[in-house]
Amino acid sequence: MWGMEQEHSALAAALALQCDWGADEALMESPVDRLAVRDAPARAPEAARPAPEPTPPRPIRAAPVTLAAAPPAVTRAEALAAAAPDLAALKAALAAFDGSPLRETATNLVFGEGVADADLMLIGEAPGAEEDRAGRPFVGASGQLLDRMFASVGLARESNFYITNILPWRPPGNRTPTDAEVALFLPFLRRHVALIRPKRLVLVGGVAAKGLIGGKEGITRLRGRWHQVDIPGLGPLPALPTLHPAYLLRSPASKREAWADLLLLRRTLDQAPG
Ligand code: URA
Repeated sequence: MWGMEQEHSALAAALALQCDWGADEALMESPVDRLAVRDAPARAPEAARPAPEPTPPRPIRAAPVTLAAAPPAVTRAEALAAAAPDLAALKAALAAFDGSPLRETATNLVFGEGVADADLMLIGEAPGAEEDRAGRPFVGASGQLLDRMFASVGLARESNFYITNILPWRPPGNRTPTDAEVALFLPFLRRHVALIRPKRLVLVGGVAAKGLIGGKEGITRLRGRWHQVDIPGLGPLPALPTLHPAYLLRSPASKREAWADLLLLRRTLDQAPG
Protein backbone atom coordinates (compact mmCIF):
# COMPACT_ATOMS: atom_id res chain seq x y z
CA MET A 1 0.00 0.00 0.00
CA TRP A 2 1.18 3.46 -0.83
CA GLY A 3 1.72 5.97 1.95
CA MET A 4 0.59 9.60 1.74
CA GLU A 5 4.11 10.73 0.95
CA GLN A 6 4.45 8.44 -2.08
CA GLU A 7 1.03 9.52 -3.29
CA HIS A 8 2.06 13.19 -3.02
CA SER A 9 5.29 12.68 -4.91
CA ALA A 10 3.44 10.74 -7.65
CA LEU A 11 0.96 13.63 -7.96
CA ALA A 12 3.79 16.19 -7.97
CA ALA A 13 5.57 14.21 -10.72
CA ALA A 14 2.35 14.07 -12.79
CA LEU A 15 1.92 17.84 -12.36
CA ALA A 16 5.54 18.52 -13.36
CA LEU A 17 4.99 16.41 -16.48
CA GLN A 18 1.92 18.49 -17.41
CA CYS A 19 4.02 21.67 -17.01
CA ASP A 20 6.74 20.18 -19.22
CA TRP A 21 4.08 19.55 -21.85
CA GLY A 22 3.06 23.21 -21.65
CA ALA A 23 -0.20 22.79 -19.68
CA ASP A 24 0.86 25.28 -17.04
CA GLU A 25 -2.44 27.07 -16.41
CA ALA A 26 -5.10 25.44 -14.22
CA LEU A 27 -8.37 26.46 -15.82
CA MET A 28 -11.05 23.88 -15.01
CA GLU A 29 -11.25 20.21 -14.14
CA SER A 30 -12.57 19.26 -17.57
CA PRO A 31 -12.21 20.96 -20.96
CA VAL A 32 -14.93 23.35 -22.12
CA ASP A 33 -15.72 23.99 -25.78
CA ARG A 34 -16.27 27.71 -25.33
CA LEU A 35 -17.45 28.22 -28.89
CA ALA A 36 -20.20 25.64 -28.38
CA VAL A 37 -21.09 27.17 -25.01
CA ARG A 38 -21.24 30.67 -26.50
CA ASP A 39 -23.43 29.61 -29.45
CA ALA A 40 -25.79 27.27 -27.56
CA PRO A 41 -29.17 28.70 -26.48
CA ALA A 42 -29.63 29.01 -22.70
CA ARG A 43 -30.86 25.65 -21.38
CA ALA A 44 -33.28 25.16 -18.54
CA PRO A 45 -31.98 22.89 -15.76
CA GLU A 46 -32.71 19.19 -16.36
CA ALA A 47 -35.42 18.87 -13.68
CA ALA A 48 -37.29 22.03 -14.69
CA ARG A 49 -37.28 21.27 -18.40
CA PRO A 50 -40.75 20.31 -19.73
CA ALA A 51 -41.20 17.02 -21.58
CA PRO A 52 -40.44 17.47 -25.29
CA GLU A 53 -43.42 18.26 -27.53
CA PRO A 54 -44.16 15.69 -30.24
CA THR A 55 -42.36 16.74 -33.43
CA PRO A 56 -44.82 18.42 -35.87
CA PRO A 57 -44.80 17.12 -39.43
CA ARG A 58 -42.23 18.93 -41.56
CA PRO A 59 -43.60 21.26 -44.24
CA ILE A 60 -43.01 19.92 -47.72
CA ARG A 61 -41.30 23.14 -48.90
CA ALA A 62 -39.77 25.16 -46.10
CA ALA A 63 -39.28 28.87 -46.74
CA PRO A 64 -35.57 29.60 -47.34
CA VAL A 65 -33.86 30.74 -44.15
CA THR A 66 -31.62 33.79 -44.56
CA LEU A 67 -28.97 34.16 -41.90
CA ALA A 68 -27.20 37.51 -41.68
CA ALA A 69 -23.57 36.35 -41.77
CA ALA A 70 -21.46 37.94 -39.05
CA PRO A 71 -18.46 39.76 -40.57
CA PRO A 72 -15.27 37.72 -40.25
CA ALA A 73 -13.18 38.48 -37.17
CA VAL A 74 -10.37 40.08 -39.24
CA THR A 75 -12.86 42.52 -40.81
CA ARG A 76 -14.14 43.43 -37.35
CA ALA A 77 -10.57 43.83 -36.09
CA GLU A 78 -9.79 46.20 -38.99
CA ALA A 79 -12.89 48.31 -38.35
CA LEU A 80 -12.32 48.49 -34.58
CA ALA A 81 -8.64 49.37 -34.96
CA ALA A 82 -9.27 52.04 -37.61
CA ALA A 83 -11.91 53.66 -35.39
CA ALA A 84 -9.57 54.05 -32.38
CA PRO A 85 -8.52 57.74 -32.21
CA ASP A 86 -5.89 57.27 -29.48
CA LEU A 87 -4.00 54.68 -27.40
CA ALA A 88 -6.64 54.50 -24.67
CA ALA A 89 -9.38 53.82 -27.23
CA LEU A 90 -7.22 51.20 -28.97
CA LYS A 91 -6.57 49.43 -25.65
CA ALA A 92 -10.30 49.43 -24.88
CA ALA A 93 -11.10 48.11 -28.37
CA LEU A 94 -8.58 45.29 -27.96
CA ALA A 95 -9.97 44.37 -24.54
CA ALA A 96 -13.51 44.24 -25.94
CA PHE A 97 -12.63 42.36 -29.15
CA ASP A 98 -14.04 38.83 -28.86
CA GLY A 99 -12.70 37.46 -32.15
CA SER A 100 -10.01 35.26 -30.56
CA PRO A 101 -10.29 32.51 -27.92
CA LEU A 102 -6.90 33.68 -26.56
CA ARG A 103 -8.82 36.30 -24.58
CA GLU A 104 -10.62 33.54 -22.68
CA THR A 105 -7.48 31.75 -21.47
CA ALA A 106 -5.25 34.76 -20.77
CA THR A 107 -5.36 36.62 -17.46
CA ASN A 108 -4.49 40.18 -18.50
CA LEU A 109 -4.34 42.16 -21.70
CA VAL A 110 -0.73 43.14 -22.42
CA PHE A 111 -0.99 46.37 -24.40
CA GLY A 112 2.37 48.16 -24.42
CA GLU A 113 4.46 50.59 -22.46
CA GLY A 114 7.27 53.10 -22.68
CA VAL A 115 7.52 56.52 -24.27
CA ALA A 116 4.20 57.07 -26.04
CA ASP A 117 5.67 59.38 -28.71
CA ALA A 118 9.05 57.67 -29.04
CA ASP A 119 11.05 57.68 -32.29
CA LEU A 120 11.80 53.98 -31.73
CA MET A 121 9.24 51.20 -31.26
CA LEU A 122 10.04 47.56 -30.41
CA ILE A 123 7.62 44.81 -31.37
CA GLY A 124 7.88 41.36 -29.81
CA GLU A 125 5.91 38.17 -30.21
CA ALA A 126 3.39 37.58 -27.43
CA PRO A 127 3.17 37.79 -23.64
CA GLY A 128 4.55 34.91 -21.59
CA ALA A 129 3.38 33.78 -18.16
CA GLU A 130 4.91 36.69 -16.26
CA GLU A 131 3.71 39.30 -18.73
CA ASP A 132 0.23 37.75 -18.55
CA ARG A 133 0.23 38.05 -14.76
CA ALA A 134 1.62 41.61 -14.75
CA GLY A 135 -0.27 42.95 -17.81
CA ARG A 136 3.06 44.43 -19.03
CA PRO A 137 5.28 43.45 -21.99
CA PHE A 138 8.73 41.89 -21.58
CA VAL A 139 8.97 41.70 -17.79
CA GLY A 140 10.06 38.04 -17.45
CA ALA A 141 13.53 36.58 -17.95
CA SER A 142 13.68 37.42 -21.67
CA GLY A 143 12.40 40.94 -20.98
CA GLN A 144 15.14 41.48 -18.42
CA LEU A 145 17.74 40.36 -20.95
CA LEU A 146 16.18 42.66 -23.56
CA ASP A 147 16.40 45.60 -21.14
CA ARG A 148 20.08 44.84 -20.46
CA MET A 149 20.85 44.49 -24.18
CA PHE A 150 19.25 47.82 -25.07
CA ALA A 151 20.80 49.52 -22.03
CA SER A 152 24.21 48.49 -23.41
CA VAL A 153 23.60 50.85 -26.35
CA GLY A 154 22.10 53.56 -24.16
CA LEU A 155 18.40 52.82 -24.76
CA ALA A 156 15.68 52.24 -22.15
CA ARG A 157 11.91 51.84 -22.35
CA GLU A 158 11.53 54.52 -19.66
CA SER A 159 13.20 57.20 -21.79
CA ASN A 160 13.89 56.11 -25.39
CA PHE A 161 11.43 53.61 -26.80
CA TYR A 162 7.96 52.13 -26.72
CA ILE A 163 7.46 48.35 -26.60
CA THR A 164 4.56 46.08 -27.49
CA ASN A 165 3.86 42.65 -29.01
CA ILE A 166 2.18 41.22 -32.10
CA LEU A 167 -0.37 39.47 -29.82
CA PRO A 168 -1.83 41.23 -26.79
CA TRP A 169 -2.93 37.95 -25.13
CA ARG A 170 -0.73 35.08 -23.95
CA PRO A 171 -1.09 31.91 -26.04
CA PRO A 172 -1.70 29.01 -23.60
CA GLY A 173 1.50 27.26 -22.57
CA ASN A 174 3.57 29.95 -24.37
CA ARG A 175 3.08 28.20 -27.69
CA THR A 176 4.14 30.07 -30.84
CA PRO A 177 1.31 32.23 -32.24
CA THR A 178 -0.35 30.75 -35.32
CA ASP A 179 -0.35 32.64 -38.64
CA ALA A 180 -4.12 33.14 -38.23
CA GLU A 181 -3.64 34.73 -34.79
CA VAL A 182 -0.94 37.04 -36.15
CA ALA A 183 -3.19 38.06 -39.08
CA LEU A 184 -6.11 38.68 -36.73
CA PHE A 185 -4.20 41.06 -34.45
CA LEU A 186 -2.13 42.82 -37.17
CA PRO A 187 -4.76 45.55 -37.77
CA PHE A 188 -4.58 46.48 -34.07
CA LEU A 189 -0.77 46.42 -34.13
CA ARG A 190 -0.55 48.58 -37.26
CA ARG A 191 -2.92 51.09 -35.67
CA HIS A 192 -0.79 50.95 -32.50
CA VAL A 193 2.29 51.89 -34.56
CA ALA A 194 0.36 54.64 -36.40
CA LEU A 195 -0.67 56.16 -33.06
CA ILE A 196 2.86 56.09 -31.59
CA ARG A 197 4.29 57.48 -34.89
CA PRO A 198 7.86 56.14 -34.43
CA LYS A 199 10.56 56.78 -37.02
CA ARG A 200 11.97 53.24 -36.75
CA LEU A 201 10.90 49.76 -35.66
CA VAL A 202 12.87 46.92 -34.11
CA LEU A 203 11.19 43.57 -34.75
CA VAL A 204 12.13 41.27 -31.89
CA GLY A 205 12.15 37.66 -33.09
CA GLY A 206 10.89 35.72 -36.08
CA VAL A 207 7.15 36.05 -35.42
CA ALA A 208 7.28 39.86 -35.35
CA ALA A 209 9.64 39.97 -38.33
CA LYS A 210 7.56 37.60 -40.48
CA GLY A 211 4.28 39.22 -39.35
CA LEU A 212 5.34 42.70 -40.46
CA ILE A 213 7.77 42.05 -43.30
CA GLY A 214 6.00 39.00 -44.75
CA GLY A 215 7.69 36.57 -47.13
CA LYS A 216 9.22 33.22 -46.41
CA GLU A 217 12.64 34.17 -45.01
CA GLY A 218 13.33 33.24 -41.40
CA ILE A 219 14.79 35.53 -38.76
CA THR A 220 18.39 34.40 -39.30
CA ARG A 221 18.21 35.67 -42.90
CA LEU A 222 16.13 38.78 -42.13
CA ARG A 223 18.12 40.08 -39.16
CA GLY A 224 21.05 42.45 -39.38
CA ARG A 225 19.69 44.83 -42.04
CA TRP A 226 16.95 47.40 -42.38
CA HIS A 227 13.72 46.52 -44.20
CA GLN A 228 10.68 48.63 -45.06
CA VAL A 229 7.32 48.06 -43.43
CA ASP A 230 4.17 49.84 -44.63
CA ILE A 231 2.01 51.26 -41.88
CA PRO A 232 -1.35 52.66 -43.05
CA GLY A 233 -1.65 56.31 -42.12
CA LEU A 234 2.09 56.60 -41.49
CA GLY A 235 3.84 55.34 -44.63
CA PRO A 236 6.91 53.14 -45.05
CA LEU A 237 9.00 52.72 -41.89
CA PRO A 238 12.54 51.30 -41.59
CA ALA A 239 12.39 48.10 -39.51
CA LEU A 240 15.32 46.13 -38.09
CA PRO A 241 14.63 42.46 -37.28
CA THR A 242 16.77 40.95 -34.52
CA LEU A 243 16.97 37.73 -32.54
CA HIS A 244 14.49 37.22 -29.71
CA PRO A 245 16.03 37.32 -26.20
CA ALA A 246 14.21 34.08 -25.32
CA TYR A 247 16.22 32.46 -28.14
CA LEU A 248 19.42 34.08 -26.85
CA LEU A 249 18.78 32.59 -23.40
CA ARG A 250 18.69 29.15 -25.04
CA SER A 251 21.53 29.85 -27.50
CA PRO A 252 23.97 32.27 -25.84
CA ALA A 253 26.44 31.87 -28.74
CA SER A 254 24.01 33.88 -30.90
CA LYS A 255 24.41 36.94 -28.67
CA ARG A 256 27.21 37.95 -31.04
CA GLU A 257 24.67 38.50 -33.88
CA ALA A 258 22.26 40.30 -31.56
CA TRP A 259 25.10 42.58 -30.49
CA ALA A 260 25.88 43.36 -34.15
CA ASP A 261 22.20 44.30 -34.64
CA LEU A 262 22.30 46.61 -31.62
CA LEU A 263 25.44 48.31 -32.93
CA LEU A 264 23.75 48.82 -36.30
CA LEU A 265 20.74 50.33 -34.51
CA ARG A 266 22.98 52.63 -32.44
CA ARG A 267 24.92 53.79 -35.53
CA THR A 268 21.70 54.47 -37.43
CA LEU A 269 20.24 56.48 -34.54
CA ASP A 270 23.49 58.46 -34.18
CA GLN A 271 23.51 59.31 -37.89
CA ALA A 272 19.81 60.23 -38.02
CA PRO A 273 19.11 63.93 -38.47
CA GLY A 274 17.60 65.74 -35.48
N1 URA B 1 8.32 37.50 -25.26
C1 URA B 1 7.73 38.38 -26.07
O1 URA B 1 7.85 38.29 -27.30
N2 URA B 1 7.01 39.35 -25.54
C2 URA B 1 6.85 39.50 -24.22
O2 URA B 1 6.18 40.44 -23.80
C3 URA B 1 7.50 38.57 -23.39
C4 URA B 1 8.23 37.59 -23.92
